[in-house]
Amino acid sequence: MKNILVVHGPNLNLLGKREPDVYGKVTLESINKELKALAKKSKVGIKIFQTNTEGEIVDIIQKEGDTWADALVINPAAYTHTSVAIREAISAVKIPAVEVHLSNIFKREEFRHKSYISPVAAGGIFGFGKDSYILGFLAAVNISKNKR
Ligand code: DQA
Repeated sequence: MKNILVVHGPNLNLLGKREPDVYGKVTLESINKELKALAKKSKVGIKIFQTNTEGEIVDIIQKEGDTWADALVINPAAYTHTSVAIREAISAVKIPAVEVHLSNIFKREEFRHKSYISPVAAGGIFGFGKDSYILGFLAAVNISKNKR
């Protein structure tokens, strides 16, 4: 059985009340519930983490990426636009990563147009709200089958 690691970055714990005009009213809890149901249906294992701390994201990717996960779905949130450390953790573990964003980052402020993560990701999905996670997860399931 393949295993998919899902990592949500900073402030995504506030989904539902955080800038609903941008991110919608969906909560992280309901996204996670859908992902777990999808994992069950797709017959893959799933582990989900949310943290507001950059170093913790690096630790999770190192640990789970080396030992357990066959693919990673990550919304690095604000760290998308700043984090060399998360990018290098993804490169280091060598499992395919799917970058997801709820919003279309290219339609927004210019500082969001740069992703440090995209060059080391297998691909990315953005702009579809919670469906970005659903589509990203399905992509991760498919690519995980080509690994190991
Ligand atoms: C986000 C987009 C980022 O620019 C922002 O910092 C977030 C959320 C998204 O899912 O649309 O926190 O990653």
